[in-house]
Amino acid sequence: MNARELRKKYIEFFESKGHAFHASAPLVPIDVTGKLDQSLLFTGAGMVQFKPYFRAIAPPPSPRLVTSQKCVRAKDIEEVGNPAHLTFFEMLGNFSFGDYFKASAIDYAWEFLTEPQWLGLDPKSLCVTVFVDDDEAYDLWEAKWRSTGLEPSERIVRLGEDANYWPAGALSKGPPGPCGPCSEIFFRTVPESDMTGDYVTDEKAGRWLEIWNLVFMQYEWRGVVTDPERPHLGYTKQGMDPLPQQNIDTGMGLERTARVLGGFETVYDTDVFAPIVNAIAAKAGKSYGADNEIDRAVRVIADHIRTASFCIADGILPSNNGRGYVLRRLIRRSILKGTRVLGIEGAFLAAIYNAVIDALGDPYVELAERADAIRSTLMQEEEAFLNTMRQGHERFDDIMREKSTVDGRDAFFLYDTFGFPFEVTQELALELGVEIDEDEFRVALKEAQEKSRAAHGAGDVFGGESEAIILAVAPDTPPHSVFVGFDRTRHASRLTQISPRFDKSQKTTGDFQICLEETPFYAESGGQVGDTGVIEAEDFAFRVGNTWKELGQIWHDVELIRFPKELVGLTAEEIGGVLQSRVFFQPVLATVDGRRRLDIMRNHTATHLLHAALRNILGTHVTQAGSLVAPDRLRFDFTHGKGMTDEEIASVEQQVNERIAAAIGVRIHYNVPIDEARKIGAMMLFGEKYGDLVRVVEIPGYSIELCGGIHVGNSAEIGLFKITSESSSAGGVRRIEAVTGMGSYHYVRDQERIISKAASTVKSPRTELPAAIERLQQQLKDAKKQKAPVADVQHEVRDAGPLKFYYSVLTDTSTEDAKLAADKLAEQDPAGIGFIASINDGKVAFFCKIGKDAQAKGAHAGNIVKAAATVAGGGGGGSPAFAQAGGKDPSKTDEAIEAAVAAASV
Ligand code: SER
Repeated sequence: MNARELRKKYIEFFESKGHAFHASAPLVPIDVTGKLDQSLLFTGAGMVQFKPYFRAIAPPPSPRLVTSQKCVRAKDIEEVGNPAHLTFFEMLGNFSFGDYFKASAIDYAWEFLTEPQWLGLDPKSLCVTVFVDDDEAYDLWEAKWRSTGLEPSERIVRLGEDANYWPAGALSKGPPGPCGPCSEIFFRTVPESDMTGDYVTDEKAGRWLEIWNLVFMQYEWRGVVTDPERPHLGYTKQGMDPLPQQNIDTGMGLERTARVLGGFETVYDTDVFAPIVNAIAAKAGKSYGADNEIDRAVRVIADHIRTASFCIADGILPSNNGRGYVLRRLIRRSILKGTRVLGIEGAFLAAIYNAVIDALGDPYVELAERADAIRSTLMQEEEAFLNTMRQGHERFDDIMREKSTVDGRDAFFLYDTFGFPFEVTQELALELGVEIDEDEFRVALKEAQEKSRAAHGAGDVFGGESEAIILAVAPDTPPHSVFVGFDRTRHASRLTQISPRFDKSQKTTGDFQICLEETPFYAESGGQVGDTGVIEAEDFAFRVGNTWKELGQIWHDVELIRFPKELVGLTAEEIGGVLQSRVFFQPVLATVDGRRRLDIMRNHTATHLLHAALRNILGTHVTQAGSLVAPDRLRFDFTHGKGMTDEEIASVEQQVNERIAAAIGVRIHYNVPIDEARKIGAMMLFGEKYGDLVRVVEIPGYSIELCGGIHVGNSAEIGLFKITSESSSAGGVRRIEAVTGMGSYHYVRDQERIISKAASTVKSPRTELPAAIERLQQQLKDAKKQKAPVADVQHEVRDAGPLKFYYSVLTDTSTEDAKLAADKLAEQDPAGIGFIASINDGKVAFFCKIGKDAQAKGAHAGNIVKAAATVAGGGGGGSPAFAQAGGKDPSKTDEAIEAAVAAASV
């Protein structure tokens, strides 16, 4: 059975047990309520998106779900290449939210693993571990093994919290969040006769391989970061509350399990890798399986290109921090392995990308849908890094020149600043007979890592909790607030939660955060900003400054503007007393600022039109990379390798305005099954919630996108769409800013004002403004010509026999002006010679003007310039009165002047 079949069977099995299939969350850790988990870099387990369901603060679509989740764990990138270490992997999981628990979880796992209809594994090839105190799990497993005739005590091992708690060690160390004891299932990878019989020894040696983890998720670990300055030092426990319900979270590693089912030695032999491994080997002209070092390099690249491709497909772009930095490192490591170990020349990842689609395009359709963007991102990053490598080499040479040696700190500098890998620095140094102290490098690296970890928060799957807050909750508060504002801006509801804000001295500011049972206020998401407005009750009124959502609740940031007494400057205890009186838990009338909302809606629908127009005009590689939909403007970031031309911008603007003028009715489709949305070509954007059922916004005949935002009913409501700027936002990402509706009106009015001002300044009707400006420019030019530019030409005087030789050296002066200057010099003295050396563009020209008296005395302009030009490597001549000549070598100007003086002294 290969990986593809395993994935299918797993889902089929759990569907037959009443589980609903749920789509994988994106790699950017966005949970089922659409909230980004700030504490995590990546989705690293199947359960990440379901935290709100475990906590029962949002209702699941079904109490039983089954998933195949894309996961990235990027902590130990260096370990990749070993048989079982992957940065990207798929986790098959079945979940119960307050439905079945331990007994059924173990029943299902056993049936799926051992029944011939499913995996049909021999129980002799399996063993399990349970948490040391978990007698219940032990007994359940014991019954299974007894039924096969095998001795249970040889098959069940009790271990402590580091092995059998999820997350590892969570019983004492945290981190905060849902957790519970777990039971892991292992597969024997060697013949029974090769086993020592001691579980710990066999597991360490890889003879027992973990394939499935069953977590009995039932507690909420509570605690705080021990030292906020150094969060990586961990948490101090405060409590361990039972979750509102008992849950099941399981995770089966797809690649590992496919490996053992296929009887392979490594995961790289399975069908989710083989096409990629083959493509890399073919590109390198090497055969896989013949040489350890080569094989390892091929495996590293195979792992990294999978991870990189999925990251880019989910909207992550290479950058210098966070997720983007992990992506960058993966691409760079691949290039290094490719060029240095496999001997591949130049960029190659984009060229083998098709193999990733072959391996994983089914079921991950995003790989084909976003192939263009993925290929071009890989290509750009590869080329940039190859360039970096060249620079790093140069910098290395500089250091060697300066110091004749290179140490660990230099190696770290090269690594940190240029991304120049330590191994490469080490190798270059060795070639010059210098050994680098690796410890010194590691110390510098560790310091930098600790700094960045302190900035990021904790680990792969769980992270820190927000600070303690005072929160008053009304009785019967539902687990989530309901948004009712798609078609209205005013709604009567009740206030359910309120939390005061404090200033630095822990006194209330008069600002609060509140939740309503139902609200017409749109919470900031998908780029659309939150609504503002007012929330009023009989006894109080709030002004709403922003709306956002977290854990299924919609929060309003508010300022208290009416209340019987002053609530500013109170201590936590005092405000606590006021809140306890429940005065705020009243019916309220919530009113959104409707005009602002309408402006936002215009900009949101215009953003969809803009996205479609960009793809029509620039190509389908254009993918949304970020957006802001505000009342006064919209901003749209998208992947595109170069700046847009004026024609492209004009075409996009025109196409959008044509769709607006066509007055198309905007259609919203609710609860569309995701597969159907995909079939009709709906654009799936990064940051959207990828549930089973999605909301689709269609501008018929033109644009169709997954979107949770608010739109106008008809495109004509948008009014004029005007692009105000096109610029670069990041490498390979362009940014368009535009305005619509009243925003366009204000923009146009501002432009008009500027034009009117210009027209009145040049005293011309507006329609003739360009002609008037041209005329002015011409006049300016003419005036310049006429004016004596050299009335005050700085000059020197020399005696040339009885005559005076007036000369000056000018730079960057037009021929016209240089001639005028020569005239000017000659004019001042009838017995004078005017001479100019004019240096321009690496050349020198000579001009000579001679008045009548001087001519009569024998001076000859032609001879004078000729003498000068000859010295400066050129030639020329002219009449006795005026002459000009050119020379190629301006450095000879002084000598040329000497020659001219000599020629003048006749
Ligand atoms: N959360 C557990 C894991 O990741 C089981 O899914 O191993």
